[in-house]
Amino acid sequence: MSGQGEPDRQDAPAARRNVAPIGDVLQGCLPASGLVLEIASGSGQHACAFGTRFPALTFQPSDPDARSRASISAWIAESGTSNVAAPLDIDVMAPRWWMNAGERPAAMMAINMIHISPWQASEGLMAGAGSLLAPEGLLYVYGPFRRGGRHISQSNIEFDESLRARNANWGVRDIEDLDRLAASRALRLDEVIAMPANNFSLIFRRK
Ligand SMILES: C[S@@+](CC[C@H](N)C(=O)[O-])C[C@H]1O[C@@H](n2cnc3c(N)ncnc32)[C@H](O)[C@@H]1O
Repeated sequence: MSGQGEPDRQDAPAARRNVAPIGDVLQGCLPASGLVLEIASGSGQHACAFGTRFPALTFQPSDPDARSRASISAWIAESGTSNVAAPLDIDVMAPRWWMNAGERPAAMMAINMIHISPWQASEGLMAGAGSLLAPEGLLYVYGPFRRGGRHISQSNIEFDESLRARNANWGVRDIEDLDRLAASRALRLDEVIAMPANNFSLIFRRK
C-alpha cells in the first residue's frame, strides 16, 4: 500500500502487473487523439501510466470512492503528467450519471469493475457509453469473465465464489450477457482478447 509520507497514493499490485498488456491492446484500438474517460480508476496507476504511454491523448480518471480519488490525485502529482485530468466523482449506478461527466469522450474504459460491482453498474456503464460515445467510439472493458456459460479456469471459479461471499451482488459475469446488454445500448462487441491471468479484453464500439 502507500508508503510513508505518501498517505494517499495506493499501490494496486494487479494494476502494476496488467498495465503493460492492457496498454498493448489499447495501442491497437485507442483513437489518435481526444479524451479518454476512465470509469472506476481505483488507485489511478492505469490512468497515469497510459497518460505517459499515449501523450497525444488526455485521460479523465474517475471513481465514486473518495480515497481512490485522493490516490489518483497523488499519482498524477507524482507522475508529473500533464495529460491526466483531476479525477471526477462518477458512480455509474447513479441515474443518468453521464449528464455530469464533463466533456464528451472519444473513448471510455473500465478495468476490473464489472465483477466487483452489482450488475446495475454494468447497466449504467453501457447506458453511459451508449449516450456519450460517437459512432465507432471505443468502450474498452477488462476483467475476468465467463465464456459460453462456463468459467475458463478453476482459479476463476474460486475467485467468483470469493467475490459472491464478500457481496452477493458481485461476481464474474458472462461475456454473452454483457454483449446483450451492450447491444441494447447501441454498442457492438467487436473483439474478445484473451489476456494473462485468465482475464479478457472486451472491445466494444458505438454503432
Ligand atoms: C477492483 S477496483 C479496480 C480499480 C482499477 N480500475 C484497477 O484495475 O486497479 C474496482 C473499482 O470499481 C469502483 N466501482 C465500484 N462500483 C462502482 C460504480 N458503481 N461506479 C463506478 N465505479 C465503481 C470502485 O470504487 C473501485 O475503485
